[in-house]
Amino acid sequence: MRTILLWMARNRTLRERLPRLRFVRQAVRRFMPGEDPDSAFAAAAPLAEAGQGILFTRLGENLTELAEADEVAAHYRSILEQAATLGRPIDLSVKPTQVGLDIDAEACFAHLDDLATRIEAAGSWLWLDMEGAPYVDPTLDLYERLKAQHRNVGICLQAYLRRTPADLHRLLPIAPAVRLVKGAYDEPATIAYRTRPEVDAAYQALALMLAEAARTDEAQQRGARCALGTHDSGLVERIATFTEAAAIPRDRLEVHMLFGIRAAELRRLAADGFPAFTLVAYGNYWYPWYMRRLAERPANVLFALRQLLP
Ligand code: FDA
Repeated sequence: MRTILLWMARNRTLRERLPRLRFVRQAVRRFMPGEDPDSAFAAAAPLAEAGQGILFTRLGENLTELAEADEVAAHYRSILEQAATLGRPIDLSVKPTQVGLDIDAEACFAHLDDLATRIEAAGSWLWLDMEGAPYVDPTLDLYERLKAQHRNVGICLQAYLRRTPADLHRLLPIAPAVRLVKGAYDEPATIAYRTRPEVDAAYQALALMLAEAARTDEAQQRGARCALGTHDSGLVERIATFTEAAAIPRDRLEVHMLFGIRAAELRRLAADGFPAFTLVAYGNYWYPWYMRRLAERPANVLFALRQLLP
């Protein structure tokens, strides 16, 4: 089921047709407050008031025209201005291919560099999402260049990739802010773990390495952060058992979740002392992103189909 859904995420014809169906549009609302930024701000307000950190991502990926990337960058600049007038710090989470990585890596870097400058002035953070395996090297390169000039930049690493321990080692000298996720794409067994126990074990080992690297005040001052991007609260708690035994307090383990998924668990973890963040997605190019959410939990397909019932 996961493989089929991830194939559907990549299929061009389905990408054009499925989003037009009303029941699909209704079902996506579970994960996305709306297509426009105002819906995202409205959804973020009560979470921020409850003390959570907020990240925004405007859905979109693999752009083919540089003009589209320029428009995305301009959009994010306007979000930062709007956040400033609301007095609310908003972090941004951006896919490099959404700001032109497929077209012109230098133009992509220039957009991210400009956003990082503005976001740092606003006291927020810029996070780079991690896309499919061919983008790992260029994304790491972008991150190293950005981090050489900005403290408040983070990167997502995927625990299912066999290469990730080496990638984390490569980044450790620059005090990285890392959001560790399990991984959402359909990668072959030659480069990725494909069973849940393997992915969870890899995740736990990487999280401990990351927590150790981000534990000192000096590392934090340089911008190191250990963010667990997962809805798997049992895994978070297992990791915390190990880190607390190593005298790393749980307020050094951030938990980042997606809007609409296990929100009550995130509130519970926040009450237990973990800094909590919600990533709010919005925008009209939601189809591949939504299919990846279905693939993560095929029971979500039933939820989508239920929208067909009167
Ligand atoms: P797992 O899949 O084991 O789920 C744990 C529990 O959470 C499940 O039992 C279920 O109850 C619930 N759950 C998980 N997913 C759900 C869903 N879609 N719907 C309903 N319930 C669900 N990936 C990537 O490759 N690149 C990236 O940049 C990012 N960025 C990112 C940011 C943030 C903040 C998060 C939380 C996740 C990502 N991801 C990502 C996605 C990530 O790789 C992964 O696919 C999902 O988080 C699902 O895996 P979990 O870690 O949640 O565990």
